[in-house]
Amino acid sequence: MSEHTFLKGPKNWWRQAVVYQIYPRSFADANGDGIGDLKGIISRVEYLKQLGVDAVWLSPHYPSDLADGGYDVADYRDVDPRIGTLAEFDEMVEKLHAAGIRIFVDIVPNHSSDQHVWFQEALKAKPGSPERDRYIFRDGKGETGEIRPSELTSHFGPTGWTRITEPDGTPGQWYLHLFAKEQPDFNWDNPEVREDFLKTIKFWSDRGVDGYRIDVAHALTKDLKDGHLPARNSYDLKVMKNDGSDDLFDRDEVHEIYKSWRQVFNQYDPPRVAVAEAWVHPNRRAAYASEEGLGQAFGFDLLGQLWDHKGFRKTIDFQLKEAESFGSSTTWVFSNHDVVRHATRFGLDKESLANLPKWFRSVDREKKINFELGSQRAKAATMLVLALPGSTYLYQGEELGLHEPLNIPSEQMQDPQWFRQEGSISRDGCRVPLPWTSTGSSFGFGPGGAHLPQPEWFKEVNVEVENKDEGSSLNLYRLALALRKQLVTDEKLEWINHFGQKVLHFRRPNGWESFTNFGNKPVKAPAGRVILTTNKLVDGKVPANTTVWLQR
Ligand code: GLC
Ligand code: CA
Repeated sequence: MSEHTFLKGPKNWWRQAVVYQIYPRSFADANGDGIGDLKGIISRVEYLKQLGVDAVWLSPHYPSDLADGGYDVADYRDVDPRIGTLAEFDEMVEKLHAAGIRIFVDIVPNHSSDQHVWFQEALKAKPGSPERDRYIFRDGKGETGEIRPSELTSHFGPTGWTRITEPDGTPGQWYLHLFAKEQPDFNWDNPEVREDFLKTIKFWSDRGVDGYRIDVAHALTKDLKDGHLPARNSYDLKVMKNDGSDDLFDRDEVHEIYKSWRQVFNQYDPPRVAVAEAWVHPNRRAAYASEEGLGQAFGFDLLGQLWDHKGFRKTIDFQLKEAESFGSSTTWVFSNHDVVRHATRFGLDKESLANLPKWFRSVDREKKINFELGSQRAKAATMLVLALPGSTYLYQGEELGLHEPLNIPSEQMQDPQWFRQEGSISRDGCRVPLPWTSTGSSFGFGPGGAHLPQPEWFKEVNVEVENKDEGSSLNLYRLALALRKQLVTDEKLEWINHFGQKVLHFRRPNGWESFTNFGNKPVKAPAGRVILTTNKLVDGKVPANTTVWLQR
């Protein structure tokens, strides 16, 4: 047991926090260059305060060539000049804190950008040099090294190895990258790499950053011993080993790294928290969220969830039990910058949902969405998880009930996954700049344009319109977050079973109850004063696809 009581201590503000993800280049643009910036965020602090979130998580704000939307970091201790300056970052933190909002930043430790000074130095240095050793360079096979070192594939396909040209102009070594070729993987066996990330987390913690979201947290350490090279790369849990001995992912020794980070995090008051993006076997998540580790791990189990009370119940029970077993709290996520917005997902038929890339690439994809149904279910699902113990991660724009914009022509897309991975979807839709007003060159995103085209329908769905509409999604979120703030105490939950009905009903402390009707017929509302509902009750009945909060 560590001397700190990081998980259970009194300063565990994050255990039941509502965290709002900002994708900075698409949130608000202050200077009109079409790219969201820190000043834009500063100008919206009041909006975030009114919304009632406890924290924001900022997707990467670092200098980047944007080969992967900022997840290719060229300098971990600076701000992209297109987004702002360090002084503006400090101002943003100050304003957020003054509004009672904490801040998480994204740490991307598996790979850097190929523009990072270390990678540039590696290219100029010789094979076997200390500069090359910070990344994973290997000689190719074949007579002249023309064959890639192993069969490794990349997430942004096809190959996980790229060959460089040596400084003397000859074809040279290969380097490993699990993602785009502009994202070379670090060699985490190298002490300099470890030191540098400790420096990075100190740097941001000293500037007042409260928490961290750790990108692909399970991939850092790889089996490279005795000339071994990983030959495949798959997030598929059916393929990934479940005992810490996989070639690439979730290796036991990755936790040594997070232990050393935890020691740094615990030097601050309150201790810094971190949440792992770790696509691992659910029984292996605990280690990432432990007292000696990062603190929390994303539970992504609801991302693929169909609208079905039994499925929801199973997932919720599982995630709660799992988090409790390791002393942390769970997280609920329906949307982020990597997935189709959940209003749209819940409007899809089963078949489309089962194969999203196929749906996305079909010519009549819009016809397969029941927009109204999707909106109803998304709201009901979000209100349900907001009543659960644990923290909830919201993604910018979901408070407006946004659907996935599907109007982006292929030539304007930016996502490397779309261009390079066969049978994938583009993640650009959920990254379209937010609509703040009904008019203007970019619906109030900024005084100029928007770096991705916005759909026409933004003129009806935006902050300005929804501010004025009492029944809007925005006002529902505001009410929910305000109520939650008043009602949340400990992490207890008690199910109230209604056998034979397609509903989920549970009680929290303070007489707070949540009731969701998953069926397609109205059902009798339980007793209690209705304090929030995603649809008006009719004759004392809760309509289909509706969540109601009650107080008794
Ligand atoms: C994570 C990010 C994703 C990024 C990838 C590589 O999964 O969420 O956006 O492309 O890591 O950094
Ligand atoms: Ca800008």
